Amino acid sequence: MSFKEQIDTARLPKHVAIIMDGNGRWAKGKGKLRVFGHHNGVLSVRDVVEGAGELGIKYLTLYTFSAENWNRPKYEVTAIMELLISTINKEIKKLMESNVRLNTIGDIEMLPKKCYDELVSAMEKTAGNTGLVLTLALSYSSRREIVQAARAIAEKVEKGDLKVSDITEDLFAGHLHTAGMPDPELLIRTSGEYRISNYLLWQIAYAELYFTDKLWPDFRREDLYEAISDYQKRERRFGLTSEQVN
Ligand code: IPE
Ligand code: IPE
Ligand code: MG
Repeated sequence: MSFKEQIDTARLPKHVAIIMDGNGRWAKGKGKLRVFGHHNGVLSVRDVVEGAGELGIKYLTLYTFSAENWNRPKYEVTAIMELLISTINKEIKKLMESNVRLNTIGDIEMLPKKCYDELVSAMEKTAGNTGLVLTLALSYSSRREIVQAARAIAEKVEKGDLKVSDITEDLFAGHLHTAGMPDPELLIRTSGEYRISNYLLWQIAYAELYFTDKLWPDFRREDLYEAISDYQKRERRFGLTSEQVN
């Protein structure tokens, strides 16, 4: 039985987040430059986006470029930005056909203007789509996002628009870049690394974590289905006892 057939579609995670890692090692293993890995990683993105939409996942959030990734060699950063532009350009038609809404989190104003413009235009074009919400985390740092939220709230308090006693978890979450999105129930990281790398720290408070040794360019929808099937076998207790949950 395929992993897809094992999935109970009535109990799908609403939101799946992925740390797409291992492009560089994948390329190196083939005797190629790191950038070759990023190019092949795009094929995985395409397949996983299609596969998630087909299954009925509502939110898919992909860690595409971290704030820390700016410190990589200049040629690699440039190549990633160019790849981003060409990919959005190529995929926009497909996103429209499959009713996908494109969204971003992170400080996208820091991206090169061409890249920023391409993204904003694609987000505007797909804004009315009602299928999968595909969020790309770009120039994203979770700690920075949390500090930005704290500042925005503090400013409102300073102006008298908000009372300190109004600050709740919901209000705080509403000031994060992910405002309005449910928290991910499932976080997947590829490439055999067991860390979070400054991704969605607030939002993954109770996410199920799934790690696979597969490098991102080898990851396909069937691997996503395997992760979801594994997720569905877990007992999510939220602090309760197993007896209470059952
Ligand atoms: C993930 O693959 C893609 C980005 C971070 C942009 P890496 O480029 O981190 O690949 P490895 O981890 O060096 O193999
Ligand atoms: C995390 O991968 C960022 C993305 C996948 C875009 P990294 O490869 O940058 O993470 P670290 O630095 O190894 O933790
Ligand atoms: Mg990496």
